[in-house]
Amino acid sequence: MRIAVLTGGGDCPGLNGAIKWVTKTALDPVLEKKRSVKFDVIGIKDGWRGLVEVDPARLDEEIVRTWDRYGGTNLGTSRTNPFNPKKDTSEKVMENIAKLGIDVIVAIGGEDTLGVASKLYRRGVKVVGIPKTIDGDLVGTDYSLGFDSAVNVIMEEIDRLRTTAGSHNRIFVVETMGRHAGWLALHGGECSGAYIILIPEHSFDMQRVCALLEERRGREIQYSIIVVSEGATMTVHQEFCKDDKVDEFGHRSLGGIAAYIAQAIEGKTGFETRYVVLSHLQRGGAPSARDRLMARWFGIAAVDMIVSEDFGRMVSYRHGEMTSVPMKDVTDHLNLIDLDKYYDTERYNGKRSIL
Ligand code: F6P
Repeated sequence: MRIAVLTGGGDCPGLNGAIKWVTKTALDPVLEKKRSVKFDVIGIKDGWRGLVEVDPARLDEEIVRTWDRYGGTNLGTSRTNPFNPKKDTSEKVMENIAKLGIDVIVAIGGEDTLGVASKLYRRGVKVVGIPKTIDGDLVGTDYSLGFDSAVNVIMEEIDRLRTTAGSHNRIFVVETMGRHAGWLALHGGECSGAYIILIPEHSFDMQRVCALLEERRGREIQYSIIVVSEGATMTVHQEFCKDDKVDEFGHRSLGGIAAYIAQAIEGKTGFETRYVVLSHLQRGGAPSARDRLMARWFGIAAVDMIVSEDFGRMVSYRHGEMTSVPMKDVTDHLNLIDLDKYYDTERYNGKRSIL
């Protein structure tokens, strides 16, 4: 049985680990004896693009041996959408799946990548999904690859900013990724003690941000850190975009909100303010311990699902256990922050009181 593995959408730490553990588990000679099926594994390059223009690579245990230590994806990735209404290449993908003798595809990705997998499943292709998104907005699982490494980057960079912010008595506005969901800003901001956290789920008011900063004027605190998701919006403003371009899934390139906020703060309060856009740094570097562990568990579970013929489903981590959910249920809505539970809409910060 031929397994094809691919990674789609934005890269992140943890992808290489998942590829390694799918390969290693599928080819494990001890497990092979216990199963009634023998596997071989190929890697599809550059996400779904690699099934439009094919150039697969054979994977074995020796090739993937050290991959779990490294960030990015050694298979490459793309935002190619074979079901793009402007350029539908899904027939070509179906042909190439047959030509390459692929029996099952393990798609590692977020909502877009798994959405394609789900559509292919409806056409009879056997697929299994592994959740990946640094934004943390995928439903059906308590964890998706890349999130923890990204939160660690945010925390480390804010630690660095504090010394310079403190030395100059400045406000720093830190822009994180997070297109629709504010998990990165919320968790990154909470673990690094940010004074204000702004998220897409709650439109913020610039006057309120300034009033919160004014509350600290004259107190012993000399500086403040504000963390803002790239997808946050103001009551009077729509999304901040870098340009007018849209990708094959119809998404625009977000960015620019931190610069706007920094300027508005200086203008309204006179506090000296700087901004930092963490951007793709959040997707770079080596995977955190949590991402290595989850990549391993997800990879092993994906092969288990193939053995038990649980196709059309995504591996999921729920309440501390590995399980799976139908792929179609994870691609039609997003995991957004529950404001009542986790966000203080007055103080613009995290909320975790159990009272
Ligand atoms: O995949 C989600 C994401 O991390 C978003 O938060 C961000 O807007 C986007 O990727 C940026 O991706 P790229 O610039 O690599 O296309």
